[in-house]
Amino acid sequence: MEKRIKGFSKLSKQAKMEWLAKAHLAQPDAGMALMQSYMHADAAIQKRHDEFIENTVANYYLPFGVAPNFLINGKVYTVPMAIEESSVVAAAAKSAQFWMSRGGFRSSILSSTKIGHIHFMFGGDGPTLQAVFDAHLSQIRASTAHITANMEKRGGGILDIRLVDKTEALAEYYQVEVRFDTRDSMGANFINSCLEEMAKVLKACAREDARTAHSPLDVVMCILSNYTPECLVRCEVSCPMEEMLEGTDMTAAEFAHKFHRAVRIAEVEPYRAATHNKGIMNGIDAVILATGNDFRAVEAACHAYAARNGSYSSLTHCSVEDGVFRFWIEIPLSLGTVGGLTQLHPLVKMALEMLGNPGAHELMMIVAASGLAQNFAALRALTTTGIQKGHMKMHLLNILNQLGASETEKEIIAAQFAKLVPHHADVVKAFYDLRGLPLPETH
Ligand code: MEV
Repeated sequence: MEKRIKGFSKLSKQAKMEWLAKAHLAQPDAGMALMQSYMHADAAIQKRHDEFIENTVANYYLPFGVAPNFLINGKVYTVPMAIEESSVVAAAAKSAQFWMSRGGFRSSILSSTKIGHIHFMFGGDGPTLQAVFDAHLSQIRASTAHITANMEKRGGGILDIRLVDKTEALAEYYQVEVRFDTRDSMGANFINSCLEEMAKVLKACAREDARTAHSPLDVVMCILSNYTPECLVRCEVSCPMEEMLEGTDMTAAEFAHKFHRAVRIAEVEPYRAATHNKGIMNGIDAVILATGNDFRAVEAACHAYAARNGSYSSLTHCSVEDGVFRFWIEIPLSLGTVGGLTQLHPLVKMALEMLGNPGAHELMMIVAASGLAQNFAALRALTTTGIQKGHMKMHLLNILNQLGASETEKEIIAAQFAKLVPHHADVVKAFYDLRGLPLPETH
């Protein structure tokens, strides 16, 4: 069957599924049945999911788990996490438990300003452009009044508008840089709408003002920046060094120092920093997804921030001084607890309710704690038992599920691997041995 198609988006959902199954799947009926089996039983909820994106043909499930016992600023949270990677939720819960008895996480908002730009080209004289910009600034700002009115009622809005000369980086390149306070919304639509409105007026002003009329001002694009270094949260844990007990043959002091060294390595070595920060993002993205936020935006912001000093580095830091162990994270998190998916996705609503319906600031503090907890768990494992022990326990289950093991077979094989690292090949062999079957060649 022809694999190309015209007018796909105009087809009904059923017709899209049928075309997809026939054109691309070896067993179209089985494919149809699979897509159908993932549809929600409640037609209204399914319709909502269908309408989140275009061309929906099924739902894609991720496990929704919770990590209890997060003590953050004196309040206990059960943190929702949507993630497919085994061990992440268990690691968060283990860290939360560890820090619960050591004062918990202390989070604070350093700033919550968001930034957007009108990127434009102007071939004329810079100081003249600045004079024209200054003369028309109130007009440019006023053009957004119909958009900002509601946000202003909530205490937010436009904080600052300025012209930036970027011609040293790129000939004729200028920006109008705008700072926003978007309160409890992530604010992407609000910011982009304001920018587009301002750009129209900027263009018109430059065209009509005699000082700039002779050199056209060409708006290239208007868009928020996902780099949000002014939307920053900090989270810290600390305890007397002797409380850094690990349950291995290391002393508390040895563990604290080894942990500190592991963080220092991630601070100076980009190869390690990328993995270190990936582990942090395991904890962050899972909460971001569960609470209906945009994990791609958060990823972009965090990695840009990690490279802000010119070399990619760790997002967490550690000190062991005067007998006190301190471990902290400082990250840009532009989040929303109103708008977007937050009121539309039933599980997102539940996730926010579990957290006590936090505002954006409180959610930033919870997410930062989750990232720090995740990094603590990873470094604790890496510097003591090694990462594979904990990872592979869940991995074992995944391998056995892939092989189609029964519950009894899972129990027997799990017992065999209780004290062993379950390497894939060994588990497969154990499974076929248990069934008394020869090992297939494909394994
Ligand atoms: C795996 O998803 C994350 C880790 O690699 C993080 C780290 O190395 O710090 C365990």
